[in-house]
Amino acid sequence: MDVEQIIILEHIALTKAFDQFLPLCHDLTSWQLFVAFCDKYLEKNHHAKEEKFIFSAVRSDSRIRMGGPLCTLYFDQYLQSPAIARAQKVIQDILSTHLFKQKIDKEKIDELIKPQWGEDFALDISTNSPLLIPAGDHVAGRMLLHFADTLLALENGAADGVQTALISSNNFELSLKTIFFHYREIQVDHFVREEKCFLKMCQSLILADDWSNIAHSIIDQYPLITDDLLTKHFAKAQ
Ligand SMILES: [Fe+2]
Ligand SMILES: [Fe+2]
Repeated sequence: MDVEQIIILEHIALTKAFDQFLPLCHDLTSWQLFVAFCDKYLEKNHHAKEEKFIFSAVRSDSRIRMGGPLCTLYFDQYLQSPAIARAQKVIQDILSTHLFKQKIDKEKIDELIKPQWGEDFALDISTNSPLLIPAGDHVAGRMLLHFADTLLALENGAADGVQTALISSNNFELSLKTIFFHYREIQVDHFVREEKCFLKMCQSLILADDWSNIAHSIIDQYPLITDDLLTKHFAKAQ
């Protein structure tokens, strides 16, 4: 299988899992399982393999600045509505409009809205690389996921930087639904941009042998995300 095929196949499986399992979330256990799915399969598998193998292969290539018409369109969209700013707004809106029974420390709020860029992105940030567009989508998703995780911990009775537990159930449910409405949309839009611009550009920059080596490395080091794998994950809820 070629890199593009792997990535697209996984986008399809992940999108299907969003559509199938997100509407079923209704209590602490099902939300925990959904957050675990996003963390394990989207963040630590799918996005991790893109960052580890594809981003790193094009990072130092100056030609990544020469995107075609579709990439330019996406760049324009990115300038108007960057995913990180969107994630920050979602978090701030929830924190300011929902009445939480317990106080969340100011430092905790600052931590929640601060984008966490991994060390690998230091060069991209200093050179204002276009890689920051797909990477920013990944970071925005992780911010929302971390926030969801914090709310789950709250509901469960323990979260650092939060003075004890208990938020009202209505707030909890509505907050999680809002977070994952935006999380899902950020991911699905991101998948389209990768398929129509990013992967095509990367394939044109990377030598054919290296491109096929990337596919081998991905398959060697990570489980392929398939419908079966995700169905098994969610079957744990029953
Ligand atoms: Fe991605
Ligand atoms: Fe992707």
